[in-house]
Amino acid sequence: PLAGLLALALGYLLGSIPFGLILTRLAGTQDIRSIGSGNIGATNVLRTGRKGLAAATLLGDALKGTVAVLIAARLFGFEGSLVAALGAFLGHLFPVWLGFRGGKGVATFLGVTLGLYWPLAVVFAVVWLGVARLFRYSSLAALCATAATVIAALVLASSALTLLLAVLAAILWIMHRANIRRLLAGTEGRIGAKG
Ligand code: G3P
Repeated sequence: PLAGLLALALGYLLGSIPFGLILTRLAGTQDIRSIGSGNIGATNVLRTGRKGLAAATLLGDALKGTVAVLIAARLFGFEGSLVAALGAFLGHLFPVWLGFRGGKGVATFLGVTLGLYWPLAVVFAVVWLGVARLFRYSSLAALCATAATVIAALVLASSALTLLLAVLAAILWIMHRANIRRLLAGTEGRIGAKG
């Protein structure tokens, strides 16, 4: 129980670092929360036109999840790493520092998956890139990639890991409810279009 709480707190602390916000502030761009979708993630950072910043946001928001998982695995074992993954994901979505208004969890989902069982992160990346190339919607790519990751986990991974990823994917889909509405209405912004 104590180890679980520590793993959760470790994950949350790392997960709640909002790289998109920090990097755009350092670079002196417009507040990303006032442009495009208003989200703090890499997709919205890209709408500032700064590709390097968007890439760094993706990397930071993903790797904070990977790092949380790897540290927790060392300190607390496999179950601890699952709890840290949950903590990191929730930290990214609901950072106390930003009044609990964080991101939608795509990069952090990828990062924790990479740390927990990397072949599933490959599945995620391949599906994301394929769907993004075909349709040019970041949100649709993320929705498909997370679903594919859970399906792949059913085949490749333990039931505990599969359950965790299914929970994270369900939360991620809920966080994308406005995107899903826009996709259905045909009004979602495409990758490359300015917000
Ligand atoms: O979660 C990132 C992407 O799926 C959606 O981002 O800014 O278009 O809402 P955004």
